[in-house]
Amino acid sequence: MKRILSGMQPTAQLHLGNYLGALKNWVALQNEPDSENFYMVADLHAITVPQEPEALRAATREIAAAYIAGGIDPAKSSIFVQSAVPGHSELMWLLATMTQMGKLERMTQFKDKAGKNAERAGLGLFAYPVLMAADILIYKATHVPVGEDQKQHLELAREVASTFNTRYGQDFFIQPEPFIMGAAARVMSLQDGTKKMSKSDASEKSRINLTDDAETIAKKIKKAQTDPEALPETLAGLEGRPGAKNLVTIYAALADITPEAVIKDCAGKGWGEFKSALADLAVEKLAPMTRRMQELMSDPAEIDRILAQGSEKAGALAEQTVRQTREIMGFWQRP
Ligand code: TYM
Repeated sequence: MKRILSGMQPTAQLHLGNYLGALKNWVALQNEPDSENFYMVADLHAITVPQEPEALRAATREIAAAYIAGGIDPAKSSIFVQSAVPGHSELMWLLATMTQMGKLERMTQFKDKAGKNAERAGLGLFAYPVLMAADILIYKATHVPVGEDQKQHLELAREVASTFNTRYGQDFFIQPEPFIMGAAARVMSLQDGTKKMSKSDASEKSRINLTDDAETIAKKIKKAQTDPEALPETLAGLEGRPGAKNLVTIYAALADITPEAVIKDCAGKGWGEFKSALADLAVEKLAPMTRRMQELMSDPAEIDRILAQGSEKAGALAEQTVRQTREIMGFWQRP
């Protein structure tokens, strides 16, 4: 049986990278036979940078709404809140005691986020990948569908699992497989094709948010970085043209076709024409999701019901793993 787990942070709005690199793939996976699916709102990760309490609460519901609007079916997948399952924090501490600082120092995301002033970065930001390892190992997840930027964190989770298993001489934690799917595993900024599309980019024009209206989407795509040459005849013709490559990749992922097929259809076209087709396609795919998200957000009690149900299911599994971990490590257990 496959046990699939993934999550997103409730910080700012979700963007096209989150959708194409993660959520869209989760939806495809939930229909696989013989799989159990867990999708969480990673609020404990969000607080590694300061959050306004009310904004965090609202964003948590909003992410859950985005999951459902994007196609995650609460009847097939457990949708839950990370902080509502206390085992994540507990297991994190246990695993932190067997994680080397040197490995955490090498994490690209930490280096990017801490910047030059790593001395002043919070412990949470540094230990972030250990919490992520706990998130995954606590469910004994076999597959973790994420965008490419999370690959290094998954490698760490595998290492932590193996350190624990070796230290205690048991095959207890499962080594999770990263699932990095499709051409859009790394959607780039619309303003700079060498940088990933990110929530933390200061420029709104760099990303398409899932809540953008049709006009905003069209405007952002129109302004997106390209180059003076037309679309090439072959895929190889996109090499060294990051902005152009990014738009072709986005088109392919939205249309569910390969980048080769996009090039075949559009070879020789100018960017004006291509961008207008891309904007129409993005609106066609995203508008129904945005509408559904708004509907869901107008009924927070229903979202809370779904989250409570998911958190209960996840919680029961997590508690079992934490109990077993405590037992293996030699902690006194309440009789
Ligand atoms: P987060 O919230 O940064 O991103 C959520 C998902 O979106 C993917 N993603 C992208 N994919 C393609 N192109 C992009 N430009 C792009 N930007 C983001 C991410 O790879 C991710 O899959 N640490 C995680 C959340 C997390 C988690 C976990 C994930 C916490 N615990 C356990 C899996 C398993 C994060 O911050 O994702």
